[in-house]
Amino acid sequence: MNIKIQVVENLAKSEARGRRRKNTSAGSDEIITLNNVSKAYATGAPALNGVSLRIKKGEFVFIVGDSGSGKSTMIKLLLRELVPTSGEINVMGYDLTRIRHRKIPKFRRNLGIVFQDFRLLKDRNVYENVAFAQRIIQVSSKEIKRNVPSILATVGLAGKYKAKPRQLSGGEQQRVAIARALVNRPSILLADEPTGNLDPKNSWEIMKLLEQINENGTTVLVVTHNREIVNAMQKRVVTMKKGVIVSDEEKGGYIDDED
Ligand SMILES: Nc1ncnc2c1ncn2[C@@H]1O[C@H](COP(=O)(O)OP(=O)(O)O)[C@@H](O)[C@H]1O
Ligand SMILES: [Mg+2]
Repeated sequence: MNIKIQVVENLAKSEARGRRRKNTSAGSDEIITLNNVSKAYATGAPALNGVSLRIKKGEFVFIVGDSGSGKSTMIKLLLRELVPTSGEINVMGYDLTRIRHRKIPKFRRNLGIVFQDFRLLKDRNVYENVAFAQRIIQVSSKEIKRNVPSILATVGLAGKYKAKPRQLSGGEQQRVAIARALVNRPSILLADEPTGNLDPKNSWEIMKLLEQINENGTTVLVVTHNREIVNAMQKRVVTMKKGVIVSDEEKGGYIDDED
């Protein structure tokens, strides 16, 4: 085949791929789309059962519901740690049911994740815990030296660079985890019960920090059991029960279980 024709054909193919990728996302301002998503594990009832959810860029969303209602399963599907049994998931334009394995690391670079148990490296100091997230994606040392202090200041930990996790309070450890999740400037921050191990004062401070991060443009999803904070913050609240979404309210509150 002559080279010119080859190039033209390749261009046409890559355009077609581009179109396919765009078409899987329902709207340009939507950053997360679940269409009729179910997830069954090897045993037991489905953890998610026909869930549809649309989240726009820049939203702050609480996900609430009883233990076992499928919240963490949803987070794992959004991270492409799990694949759905059926249905479609699109995150930041990536069709997660069709994404190629070699593209997953690049996809995950745009997601920050925070867990209840912090998951810090115990033998590394605060600076190293955050810098590590940049090292694994090969950011230059020069940039790391600029980015890490800046993000530590954002989460209110300027001056604690050298502390090891065990020398910090739970609230401070969670701030380190948030700094680590944010240092690569993700479009979305996912937090699975980020205040589950914290006292009320630290819980409030962490939620206010997540709100501030959202106000700076990051889309934020927070799974929580913290009724008081959900009711006070007046954000969108998605309530799950036994694998389905039972309510989705703008400026919502924590719905009492009527059982
Ligand atoms: N790896 C697994 N294997 C089998 N069942 C699981 C697994 N993970 C979660 N489940 C089940 O799926 C359901 C939803 O769990 P999960 O998503 O962790 O709920 P939540 O985070 O709301 O507490 C529960 O019934 C749970 O026992
Ligand atoms: Mg959970």
